[in-house]
Amino acid sequence: MSDSQIIRFGIIGTGSIAGRFMAGLQHVPAAMATGTYNRTRSKAMAFNGSHGIPHAFDSLDELLASDIDAVYIATPHPSHAALSIAALQAGRAVLCEKPAATSVAELDAVLAVARATGVLYMEAMKPPFFPLYREIRQRIEAGAIGEVRFVRAGFANPNVPAGHAVLDPAQAGGGLLDIGIYAAFLACDWLGAAQDVQTLGRLGGLDGVEEGGVDTFASIQSRHEHGISQLYCGLDTSGSGEALIAGTGGHIVIFEKWWNPASATLVHTDGRREELAMAPLGSGLNYETAHFCELLRAGQSESPLHGFAQTRAALQLIENARRQLCR
Ligand SMILES: NC(=O)c1ccc[n+]([C@@H]2O[C@H](COP(=O)([O-])OP(=O)(O)OC[C@H]3O[C@@H](n4cnc5c(N)ncnc54)[C@H](OP(=O)(O)O)[C@@H]3O)[C@@H](O)[C@H]2O)c1
Repeated sequence: MSDSQIIRFGIIGTGSIAGRFMAGLQHVPAAMATGTYNRTRSKAMAFNGSHGIPHAFDSLDELLASDIDAVYIATPHPSHAALSIAALQAGRAVLCEKPAATSVAELDAVLAVARATGVLYMEAMKPPFFPLYREIRQRIEAGAIGEVRFVRAGFANPNVPAGHAVLDPAQAGGGLLDIGIYAAFLACDWLGAAQDVQTLGRLGGLDGVEEGGVDTFASIQSRHEHGISQLYCGLDTSGSGEALIAGTGGHIVIFEKWWNPASATLVHTDGRREELAMAPLGSGLNYETAHFCELLRAGQSESPLHGFAQTRAALQLIENARRQLCR
């Protein structure tokens, strides 16, 4: 591949997921990170040292003005929208960690800039890019389970360290935006946008306060354009991360952790079972990154696999659920 086809990333935020992004980047052809910006420069320097990245910039503006093609945004949720807008306005393609924004209004502001500038923008929603998910999509589109009518998915993990941003209401904490967004993605991917969302759950968070905390457990039932979903997410309970996609002619179970899909069973209504297994390479983030780089090289501004409408539909579902719990 020629030098002009190499995608140079600037990384914004050098915490935990940025490290996994770098592990994935090793498996992405013709892509590299050339600079970072982190609010704590010493942490950016240490990160660069571990990953062989040449420049740690003092400001976002300097990173955006540097010789990069794209940014990967890996900061906490409330900063995603503003950082995306700044990068798009500087003409840099954006791969932004999930959730793309903390509200649909914020996301619409990002999408308006993406549309106006024509610069590539994609939420870093992992599942649709994994080889197994692509195989499942092919099977379902070929009619393997008939018409998809029901999706059940979720995950709950009580091992959140005290003081983590996900427990802090001021940082848009809570399970819904943090991990519920994956389940919302799955439901909307197969059933379309949610038209009616019903949510039960509980609040908690910093110091275990019940009032004014974040959503620590949520159970959602939604009616979508093409069917019904049952979703859950939690930060105070341990729950298996399997997913079920059920159709008129069979169903598929994706085993835990379904959002990093590696194995699944396809069950036909005549009793035939097919075991599907595709272990991911690297950290798994490499698949979304490789897709993003291909779009950038091809001059595309939106992903056909996880486009603006899909990002918006999942966030809208989560926003409706949060409104029911967090008022
Ligand atoms: N796709 C996935 O599998 C996955 C997994 C985990 C997380 N995520 C997403 O990735 C994002 C970051 O999560 P993480 O686990 O990497 O968090 P983290 O380890 O806490 O790292 C956050 C990074 O953002 C910086 N930061 C903190 N507050 C900021 C602010 N207000 N403005 C700008 N920068 C700020 C931190 O800087 P300092 O060094 O100064 O603290 C740190 O570099 C979250 O939105 C999360 O949803 C995705």
